[in-house]
Amino acid sequence: MDLDTFYPAISDLRARARRRIPHFAWEFLDSGTGTGDAMARNRAALKNVLLQPGILKGEVAPDLSTQFLGQTLSAPFGIAPVGMSGLMWPDGERLLARLGADHSIPYCMSNVSTQTPEHVAPHLGDMGWFQLYAPRDLKIRADMLARVQGAGFHTLVLTVDVPVASRRERQRRGGLKQPPRLTPRILAQVATCPAWALRVLRYGMPQMRFMQEYSNNSGSLSSTAHIGYLLRTAPDWQYLRSLRDEWPGKLIVKGVLQADEAPKLVAEGVDAIWVSNHAGRQFDAAPASLDALAPIRAAVGPEMPLIYDGGIEGGLDILRAVALGADLVMLGRAFHYGLGAFGARGAAHVVDILTQDINANLGQMGVATPPEARNHLI
Ligand SMILES: Cc1cc2nc3c(=O)[nH]c(=O)nc-3n(C[C@H](O)[C@H](O)[C@H](O)COP(=O)(O)O)c2cc1C
Repeated sequence: MDLDTFYPAISDLRARARRRIPHFAWEFLDSGTGTGDAMARNRAALKNVLLQPGILKGEVAPDLSTQFLGQTLSAPFGIAPVGMSGLMWPDGERLLARLGADHSIPYCMSNVSTQTPEHVAPHLGDMGWFQLYAPRDLKIRADMLARVQGAGFHTLVLTVDVPVASRRERQRRGGLKQPPRLTPRILAQVATCPAWALRVLRYGMPQMRFMQEYSNNSGSLSSTAHIGYLLRTAPDWQYLRSLRDEWPGKLIVKGVLQADEAPKLVAEGVDAIWVSNHAGRQFDAAPASLDALAPIRAAVGPEMPLIYDGGIEGGLDILRAVALGADLVMLGRAFHYGLGAFGARGAAHVVDILTQDINANLGQMGVATPPEARNHLI
């Protein structure tokens, strides 16, 4: 099937994925927290950014190559960490790692993936980032870092916008439990999604394999409670400092919306700041990620690498974020809509959609590179 004709937009992939992913997993992927206001705010803020088209600029050949933290990427976007990727599409982590390597775009693996770093590592190429929730036990942290580094992940992302778990009412209503259990209700949902069910038979029931290895080795708490305990310390500045000392590679802090804190992160030796409200999944009163971007850029100056995520639905949105100061834009849900719709082919189609859309919109402005969009901000 010609995906370009029948599925030209990420919203088309979303609609198909919704039918092919069991409801409980869909609600996990597609929801925010509370009444979904922060999630909606992300979209509204993007739509509000206007860019001036260009006239009489002659022919322009687009060039999307992007320098980021010492690497050359093929485009100014990458794959954000999504916990339990394999729940949305079994073995999703491996497929996304391969996608990142094939296209020279970063793949950031979540700490709470359904696969271990070692399983995914052979597929990473040199595009592997690893996202960490702050483990409370520093011995466990040291072990995780050694494994992640040994497996070939060169960039570590510390997520700081989950000081406590969010309630995520829609996700609760959807019926997801950790670890996922095949109750009659869940089985009824799975029965309507044969492609997903076949993949579970092949790859096993999705669960947090990396975290479970730690909970199995220690303690008598039930595995979910224990995983929560091990993971959910709320990191502070001292924690960041010690992590900076311990991790030899690039270090990024993810989930920053506060312009007044950003220079302090620079002073702590962080290599990049990731502006994000966690796709509206943590704090429903949070501002749109996009509204935090320009103030943070102003606070840290032009040289500090900045990443943006939240609500991206096409290449034009990427240009909007770049226009407001981002160097790199990451997407979480979009790649999983692609996976759910057509597996690896669907995720690759997301790359195509974004690339084509960036090229088309650069053409409208008559500029060759995404950062030139900054001169077109209205
Ligand atoms: C289902 C789901 C799970 C996520 N899990 C994680 C996670 O484990 N770690 C993390 O730092 N961010 C996580 N995020 C946030 C993403 O990394 C990213 O910030 C967000 O998805 C970007 O917004 P978008 O989905 O609209 O592109 C998750 C997001 C979603 C949708």
